[in-house]
Parts: sequence; C-alpha cells; structure tokens
Amino acid sequence: MPQFAWAHAHETLLWADKGGSRHTFNYHLINSRNPSAQVSSVWSIPSVPRKEKLHGYHPTQKPLRLVRRAVVASSREGDLVFDPFCGSGTMGVVAKELGRFFVGSEREEGYAELAARRIGAAVRGGVLRELSGGENA
Ligand SMILES: C[S@@+](CC[C@H](N)C(=O)[O-])C[C@H]1O[C@@H](n2cnc3c(N)ncnc32)[C@H](O)[C@@H]1O
Repeated sequence: MPQFAWAHAHETLLWADKGGSRHTFNYHLINSRNPSAQVSSVWSIPSVPRKEKLHGYHPTQKPLRLVRRAVVASSREGDLVFDPFCGSGTMGVVAKELGRFFVGSEREEGYAELAARRIGAAVRGGVLRELSGGENA
C-alpha cells in the first residue's frame, strides 16, 4: 500500500547566539574537502547506521556524523555543551569524543538510561584508545 505523504528525509538545525556575545564558528574545520568552496547550509548525511543503535532504541536518534559536524563547527575543546532534550544521548557521545564537557536532561527514564549507556561507552572507548596509544581499541 503506497504511503501518500513525503518520506521525512531532513532535519532543520537552528543556530542562535545571545546578541553581542562572541560565538565560535570553526568554518575552516568543516570546509576541508574544497577550501575554496563555500560550505552549504544543506548537509547530506545518511540516517543512523545500525552500529549506533547497539545500546537501545530511540525513535528520533540522530546520526553521530550530523551532530559531530554541528559540534565541531560551533564549539571548542573544553567548552560545555548542553542538550536539554538529549534522548539517546547522541550529543553527549559526541561531546565526549571531541573533548567537550556535557550536561544533558531527558524526561523519559528509559531514554536517560540509554543515553547514560551510550555516553559511558564513549568515555570507556576514549580511555581504551589512550591506553593503546591511539590505536583502535
Ligand atoms: C528529538 S528527541 C532527541 C533525540 C536526540 N538528539 C538523539 O539523538 O537521541 C527529544 C527528546 O526530548 C525529550 N523531552 C521532551 N520534552 C522534554 C522536557 N521537557 N525535558 C526533558 N526532556 C524532554 C523526549 O523524551 C525525547 O527523548
């Protein structure tokens, strides 16, 4: 039976800053393939791969690639990233991978536990990589 609706295939990212505040925009870090081209506001990123769902299910989990790009573009190592609707914890995983501090909140206990499992695994992965001198752990 055909579905008479558009297949949902995009997310809208909102970017904002407090008027007058200095914001981070690491344009050079997300523009590496062709430094002379202007970065597009449309990013083509495949949906969440199966290996990112190993710790449990969340209906609107975001791909790590998408969140990594946003965090690399708009924060620096050592910054604090806050995700008030953290769901499966994708932002927390990325924050730990990229050396940012992270605070998140999630109202559904099951999803908060899923986020904790994913973020814990990311932290352990980082420690293991350090112990093995940067090789795949
Ligand atoms: C779109 S999902 C976030 C998905 C997340 N980016 C990920 O990759 O898994 C939004 C989450 O916000 C949670 N939520 C909604 N209202 C909330 C509230 N008032 N306080 C905390 N969490 C809330 C929902 O339970 C849901 O898990």
